[in-house]
Amino acid sequence: MLVDQIELRRQCERVEQYVTRGVPSTLRTFDEFAACLGFYLDYKTNPEYLLAKYLEDKDVLDIGSGLNGLAVAVELMGLNTRVTSVSPGLVQPDFEQFQKDKLAESYTYTSADYTEERVEAARLVANSRSYPFFAHNLGFADNSFDVIIDNFAVFDNSRPEVKLVLIKSIEEMLRVTRPGGKIRVGGGLNFGPDWGWKEEILRNMGLDFAYHQCGVEIVVPSPITG
Ligand SMILES: C[S@@+](CC[C@H](N)C(=O)[O-])C[C@H]1O[C@@H](n2cnc3c(N)ncnc32)[C@H](O)[C@@H]1O
Repeated sequence: MLVDQIELRRQCERVEQYVTRGVPSTLRTFDEFAACLGFYLDYKTNPEYLLAKYLEDKDVLDIGSGLNGLAVAVELMGLNTRVTSVSPGLVQPDFEQFQKDKLAESYTYTSADYTEERVEAARLVANSRSYPFFAHNLGFADNSFDVIIDNFAVFDNSRPEVKLVLIKSIEEMLRVTRPGGKIRVGGGLNFGPDWGWKEEILRNMGLDFAYHQCGVEIVVPSPITG
């Protein structure tokens, strides 16, 4: 047990060094998020509606939020959704400027929906609910969220050498998610040999999970009563 704790600490240090190097960030628009997270079928017919429906009326935690693109998009769409973002890159000194530049690239500021003022207001709301946490150490109370999103982030970056950190990160995700909530892992998951050991972790933890087109959805168990 003691050895495990020491090894976990060593692996955490490796992850922290790796993830905080530079500003490792992406800013996706809402339809890109939908595609990455595997809402493909409906994405083709109505991209905004489906992911919106999944998130509607939920407390959402976006882990590895890049430039907080999901939170910005949700604000701009006026969804009744509270997105909290976590990304270690938030502490980078050039984070805000990089975020502003990317927003200017992604939103053309031509329509009434996406004026520069509205995008800026959405950016500020998104940033006011963001924290520089790592997935293995989420500073939130138990049962705080209904949905966790991990898009091209923790699962995607994890390698076998930092297996204990991935396990700890999943435990943290389960801890902060309400019973019956969902953890949607999406994006560049490799379903080849690199994915097998991750699937084994989920199985060993006795989790209820299902594949979608480009990721996995874990349903957080409800406590057994009676
Ligand atoms: C490729 S970006 C993806 C950003 C965003 N989710 C998207 O889809 O546009 C990867 C993000 O995951 C974050 N990340 C990677 N490993 C992480 C970890 N162990 N804990 C928290 N964030 C992590 C990085 O800092 C970065 O913000």
